[in-house]
Amino acid sequence: MNHYKVVLVTGASAGFGYEICRLLAKNGFLVIATARRKERLNELAKEYPDSIFPYALDVRDNDSIRNLIESLPEKLSSIDILVNNAGLALGVEKAQNSSLENWKTMIDTNILGVVQMTKAVLPIMITRNCGYIINIGSIAGSLPYIGSTVYGASKAFVEQFSKNLRCDTAGTAIKVTVIKPGLCQDTEFSYVRLNGDKEKVAPIYANTQSILPEDIASTVLWLAKGPMHLNINEIEMMPVCQTYGGPSVTRNVSFDLTDKD
Ligand SMILES: NC(=O)c1ccc[n+]([C@@H]2O[C@H](COP(=O)([O-])OP(=O)(O)OC[C@H]3O[C@@H](n4cnc5c(N)ncnc54)[C@H](OP(=O)(O)O)[C@@H]3O)[C@@H](O)[C@H]2O)c1
Repeated sequence: MNHYKVVLVTGASAGFGYEICRLLAKNGFLVIATARRKERLNELAKEYPDSIFPYALDVRDNDSIRNLIESLPEKLSSIDILVNNAGLALGVEKAQNSSLENWKTMIDTNILGVVQMTKAVLPIMITRNCGYIINIGSIAGSLPYIGSTVYGASKAFVEQFSKNLRCDTAGTAIKVTVIKPGLCQDTEFSYVRLNGDKEKVAPIYANTQSILPEDIASTVLWLAKGPMHLNINEIEMMPVCQTYGGPSVTRNVSFDLTDKD
């Protein structure tokens, strides 16, 4: 028996979101599956037509979010769990070489999208004193690496936003968790990041066993079925083949201005 019933998942057309929807539907939840690609959501819903309800949604578009929340049928209107999963990285270039447009898209999706979804759904949870917000962050939010300038910073936002929400909802039954995965395979993430270039994507996963979307889905299910008095603040996970790198040192750095003339 699940305490929670209705779950809204963003980014449900691929990767983590797709598997989260499938596993939650299989375990008795009613799932509002959202993403921009409606045809992918329709495919997803075919497997569980009585439990998965597809809705096209761009998390950057606040009017669409408000319209969706206001037009949900009665049986889906009391959202118990919001999984803020939609997100993306664009490019691996250093800050000085990266595109401002890419940066803006990441900020709009990973930060504004999470903020707008939360702002739309939290009042429903507050009114009912029942709700759980599960945000998908990343290890990139706390572990800096080259080419992650804005992506990593956007995920740092997700982490701090999640923890600050815990402060704001103190005294209510509402729960908040941030999940911070490391390297994950079998999603579209790296294809999106590298503009669909398969030759660049393949080496990232060569000879590794990385986290699978199913691993993220089973973590979300475990959280969703956990005891009501317990809040897991954050979960950081990596595949065994990945670990911390430590600070790096560059030798022979030149400070001579004449070098640049
Ligand atoms: N894969 C990894 O290694 C990894 C590691 C740590 C954290 N993460 C995070 O985990 C989350 C899911 O990643 P994933 O690996 O499953 O990636 P994915 O396979 O590329 O899936 C991303 C999902 O987000 C949706 N999306 C993108 N922009 C959107 C927008 N503006 N509005 C609504 N939906 C949007 C996509 O659907 P549409 O294109 O149909 O809209 C897709 O369903 C992301 O937040 C990512 O940052 C991933």
